[in-house]
Parts: sequence; structure tokens; C-alpha cells
Amino acid sequence: MPRPIHGAENYFTCAASKFYREASMKFPSGMPLLVAIAAGVIVWFPASAPAGSDFWFAQITDTHWGKDDNLERTKKAVGAINSLPVEVAFVVHTGDITDRSANGAVALENGLAILKELKYPVYFAPGNNDIPKNRFKEASADFAAKFGSLSKLSLTPHAAVITLFDFPGEAVDAKTAPDPIGVLDSLLKLTNRDLPVLVFQHFPITDDLFDQIFHGGWSAQRKSKFAALCEEHHVAAVICGHFHRDELNWIGTIPEFIAPPIAAKMGRQASFRLYHFENGRISYFTEYF
Ligand SMILES: [Fe+2]
Repeated sequence: MPRPIHGAENYFTCAASKFYREASMKFPSGMPLLVAIAAGVIVWFPASAPAGSDFWFAQITDTHWGKDDNLERTKKAVGAINSLPVEVAFVVHTGDITDRSANGAVALENGLAILKELKYPVYFAPGNNDIPKNRFKEASADFAAKFGSLSKLSLTPHAAVITLFDFPGEAVDAKTAPDPIGVLDSLLKLTNRDLPVLVFQHFPITDDLFDQIFHGGWSAQRKSKFAALCEEHHVAAVICGHFHRDELNWIGTIPEFIAPPIAAKMGRQASFRLYHFENGRISYFTEYF
């Protein structure tokens, strides 16, 4: 069993943590050790972590459970990931897990029951539907209670996986606004240089092009701080959702991969991403179903 220390006990009292614990127990290298640092950030350390220079991982995003046929779509994605012709090291959900219009608690339980069928460990980053502006305080506490922390570092056998809460603009006031760059900095300092570092977050930091207009997200100053930090720590990729589209941008020399959603919203066909990390470079396949 994972061993909770430094005030992480609450993490193990909820149903989702049981799911998480079971998922983490699937690590081939042995049992993980859970450590919580002062900021409430949770870090998983596998018992042994041989660096992997060639591995596969999958991404699902924007499942928006509780709306349309999105649970059914998720079930199909789970079946497809489980029957891929390659073993994946882990799966990451990059947010908008539930739809903000739905009963979030029920939708979350229904969706997690489906994800439990995945053969692989799953990590979660929150989306703006999971932590909406009008329920910021309550929803962020709910997310932390379910998943341990809004942002965390998981040291898997193949990669340092950072799942980052990255949309401070949604916070209700400056006092409660999180500092994603500061949190990222603290997590990056805990990474092991032998492992490639992957940053997963809901919002891309680059602009959003729709209706023939580029809609700005992060300020130029914040973008350049984020880029400098990622470059300094040799982040291999920043991997996002949110746009419900398939895009590639660059953050300095680092690719920013934006995956299309599972959800039906905007008339999208369900899909997931399969990534291949090989010799320091990442390529991907998008499977539609
Ligand atoms: Fe979304």
C-alpha cells in the first residue's frame, strides 16, 4: 500500500483516492511512496524509477461527464486504450472532467467508475468546468479532496509527470488566486534530471484562434516567464486540452500539444491521443472513434 506522510492522510479517505491508489498500484516497478510537501502539492515516488528513453503514454481530455453521450464516449476510449497495440506507461486527463452544467458529484463518480477499467495509472489536471469561477473556492476544495491536490508531480518509472492547475484568471479574487508559475517552479525543482519532464495542464498558454480572431490568454510577460522556466528545466512538452481542437504550438523550443476532446460539445468526434517518447522527442497519434 502507498504510505501517506506529512499530512496527506485525508487524501486516502475518499472514494477517488481509492481509485487513484488502485491505479498507482499498477506501476510495474513497485509500490509508490506518497509525499506531501508544505504547499499541499502531492508527489508520488515509485519505489524504483529506471529512466525510460522510449515509452508511450495516452491523453484524454474534456470528457465533460454529465452531458450528452460523453460517458459512453469515455467508455469507448477506455476500451480503445486498453486494446492499443502498445503498452502505455500512463494516461493523463487534462481537465474538464465533468461538465459545469451537470451534477458534478454524480457525473464524477459515474465517469471514475468507467476509468477504473483502464489497465494503466491515470493522472488528472483540473479544467475550468471542474473549477468554475462562480464556485472557485468550493470546487477547488472538492477537486483537492478527490485528487489530492490541484497541482502535483508524479515520478513514474518513465517520466516526471506534472499536472498543473493553470488558470488563475478564473479565481474570484487576487487573494485566493493560485500562482501556477510559482507552483510549477516548485514542482520542477523536485524533478529528477534522469527522467523526461512532461507538463500537463488544461489551458494552453498560447492564444486561441476562433471566429477569425486570436483570443489572448496569458499575458506576454507570463508566457515568457513560463517558457523560461520550462526551458531551464528541460521540459519535454506541455500538453493541454480546453480548445476542443487539435493544435501544435511552440513555447520557445518546447512543443505545446493541444488535444481534441472526448466530449460531443462543438460537434466533435470523440478522440484520444497516443504519444511516443523516443530519443528525447515526442510524436503523437490521434485516434478518433
Ligand atoms: Fe472543455
